[in-house]
Amino acid sequence: MSLQAPKMVDAILKSHPGSQRDHLIPILQEVQEKLGYLSEDAVVRIGRHMSIPASKIYGVATFYNQFRFQPKGKFHIMLCRGTACHVKGSAKTLESLTKALRIEPGQTTRDGLFSIEVVACLGACALAPAITVNGEFFPRLSQMKLAKLLDDCRHKAGSVAPAAKEKPKTTTPRRGRGHRA
Ligand code: FES
Repeated sequence: MSLQAPKMVDAILKSHPGSQRDHLIPILQEVQEKLGYLSEDAVVRIGRHMSIPASKIYGVATFYNQFRFQPKGKFHIMLCRGTACHVKGSAKTLESLTKALRIEPGQTTRDGLFSIEVVACLGACALAPAITVNGEFFPRLSQMKLAKLLDDCRHKAGSVAPAAKEKPKTTTPRRGRGHRA
């Protein structure tokens, strides 16, 4: 969390004077928009401001899958689970993605490279199944394309060395049949 984060949260809380409970969701939304996620510190500050225990705030926030509790990864993947994408196999895509990255939607990989968010529609149903990575659109995603896409991201981030060039084979002179020492 940056040094600015507590100030940002306090500024948002100031714009919601009083502690009406119906302000909770808008406050959570604003904080997430500014910070990219709901940090522990932010939840505690909101709780203090509204006189609600932090555990209750977590309870409310986890009910809505729009909220995340970890910062986004370097590559933020938005996977569509809308009807058109579902019909075209987005459940399988999500399964492959969570298996490959070992995280669930709303989480970020330990190395901070990837995060997953599930959305209701990316607005390009004719190109289902679709995902976006940092806002870039990837239509008609097959399992193979997905694996390549993740590899490309890793290469871009420099976390995996590109396939090493084949070393030239050392040639040992072959002894012909008729060769005599
Ligand atoms: S349902 Fe997936 S893009 Fe609309």
